Amino acid sequence: MLTTILTTALALAAASTASPLANAPKYPPTSRSTGFSLVAYVSDPALATKVFAPNPAPGKNWTVGGVHVGAGQSTAVLGSVSSTVFYQNGTASGSHKKTDGLIRDGPATYPYSIVLGTANDAGAIYIGLNVGEPTLGVAISSGPVAEVSYAPASRGTFLACNETEPTYGRPQYPIRFAPKAKSVPAGCVPISLLAQCATLAGLDANGLEYEHDTPATVNCYKDVASIDWSQYRL
Ligand SMILES: *[C@@H]1O[C@H](CO)[C@@H](O)[C@H](O)[C@H]1NC(C)=O
Ligand SMILES: *[C@@H]1O[C@H](CO)[C@@H](O)[C@H](O)[C@H]1NC(C)=O
Ligand SMILES: *[C@@H]1O[C@H](CO)[C@@H](O)[C@H](O)[C@H]1NC(C)=O
Repeated sequence: MLTTILTTALALAAASTASPLANAPKYPPTSRSTGFSLVAYVSDPALATKVFAPNPAPGKNWTVGGVHVGAGQSTAVLGSVSSTVFYQNGTASGSHKKTDGLIRDGPATYPYSIVLGTANDAGAIYIGLNVGEPTLGVAISSGPVAEVSYAPASRGTFLACNETEPTYGRPQYPIRFAPKAKSVPAGCVPISLLAQCATLAGLDANGLEYEHDTPATVNCYKDVASIDWSQYRL
């Protein structure tokens, strides 16, 4: 008898907790934009707290920017004050992801692009924000989540790492890419790089930043920090 009552009570409890989410939308709503910033979403906050101690873990508003490391070369890092805006160069429809890359919007004589380097000993790929053409295949996914994907290594994951800047000895949080999501190097946590809609300010009179660029219209979130991910069945 008690077992029956308990089972019924548990079933009811399960039904009442399951039903609101069952009807909830699966993914947060997206907008469309040519310009966007890249906001890190850390899916495992407990791991992030361990990796980044004693420094604060990447917060909700951490976006990708560049820290200067040499002539025309920056390391792509996460920072709380970066307002770097990117666009996806390719076809206006944004449908040819393998031929698209990400370029920084801004008043520069030359394009600064997101460039993937080669893997280090731990298997993590360095990411630069460098003068020149972007690594092709790095693009905003056209799937339900507005995040950066890398077509040639679709099973990989972006990372936020805890490092000490070699010259100045200050902590910095570079983003990296692990081609196999299962091999996350020590001192790094997997992240998603979400596109947050922003305005392109650096376009010239022809609507083009550099001579042949075609900013694609991509999916993006209006305000990543305000998304309550627990409300979605991702
Ligand atoms: C993170 O970096 C800081 C130095 O900036 C260091 O003290 C700390 O041990 C690092 N944490 C891990 C888990 O590597
Ligand atoms: C994060 O950004 C939102 C707006 O997008 C702002 O309201 C909030 O204060 C920011 N939080 C921090 C910690 O900067
Ligand atoms: C943007 O794409 C066009 C067309 O593929 C290409 O000609 C141009 O060089 C690209 N821009 C950069 C900065 O790579």
